[in-house]
Amino acid sequence: MSVICFDGVSKQFAVRAGRGTASANYAVRGLSLQVAQGELVAVVGKTGCGKSTMFNLLIGLTAASSGSVAVLGHDPFRDFAGLAGKVGVVFQGDRLLPWRSALANVEYGLELLKAPRENRAQVARHWLHKLGLESHMDKYPHALSGGMRQRVSIARAFATDPEILLCDEPFSALDEINAALLRNELRRLVKESNKTGMLVTHSIREAMDVGDRILVLRAPGHLVADFRVADMLATVGGAALKRQILEAMGQDAGPQEAGAAVGAAA
Ligand SMILES: Nc1ncnc2c1ncn2[C@@H]1O[C@H](COP(=O)(O)OP(=O)(O)OP(=O)(O)O)[C@@H](O)[C@H]1O
Ligand SMILES: [Mg+2]
Repeated sequence: MSVICFDGVSKQFAVRAGRGTASANYAVRGLSLQVAQGELVAVVGKTGCGKSTMFNLLIGLTAASSGSVAVLGHDPFRDFAGLAGKVGVVFQGDRLLPWRSALANVEYGLELLKAPRENRAQVARHWLHKLGLESHMDKYPHALSGGMRQRVSIARAFATDPEILLCDEPFSALDEINAALLRNELRRLVKESNKTGMLVTHSIREAMDVGDRILVLRAPGHLVADFRVADMLATVGGAALKRQILEAMGQDAGPQEAGAAVGAAA
């Protein structure tokens, strides 16, 4: 069984175009994809192609207009409770609680899941340690660097031991060196615990570093390519894979663009 399954999913938003006229625009249209247990999938596509809408459908923040979304066999919108504790989410901003220390922020997810009080601090310390934050546990978010804050949010996601880890542009606010460190860390953590993961990103470099598979979306949110990274690297090589991803996205593969993150943040 697929851990994540989109079957012919569309999402429309009502748009008011002047007085009295209303139309419905598709943010996602006819999206079908599957992710198997243990796979780490990167999703790329130009700005506005529907990545975040797909992500919001996946985490149950919004309902599909048609088609079906299933996560571990549950509809994430209608059966949100059925997925409690099974899905960990890392957003673009760290979304930490400013009045709580790093340690207390990581404990927070465990409190929500009603984990035994005596375990919470121990589990939170373990994950902060794993992410290299042992000497920063008692600091508040304002006293941490951007990279450290993003590490705390990754620790918070892993502390609840979810089966699935979902990330929407988690590293896009970081400098390239920190982003590279953290994505390697993310891949290592997902792989060593045999979790299933999905990473939405603007960066082809990031997608190639992290993903077992790279899914390319085009507007309005539908799948145009599905690359198996290891196979592609072994057959055509990295440069050709990058070119094919750019082509699938509908981006010109100019000499300077081919190596850079594609598409500025909206
Ligand atoms: N709540 C909304 N109401 C109306 N239109 C929306 C809404 N959310 C998204 N859209 C539209 O749906 C399309 C897809 O948006 P989405 O945020 O999913 O793109 P994205 O691929 O995540 O872009 P980016 O890379 O810039 O984050 C866009 O045209 C956007 O304007
Ligand atoms: Mg987005």
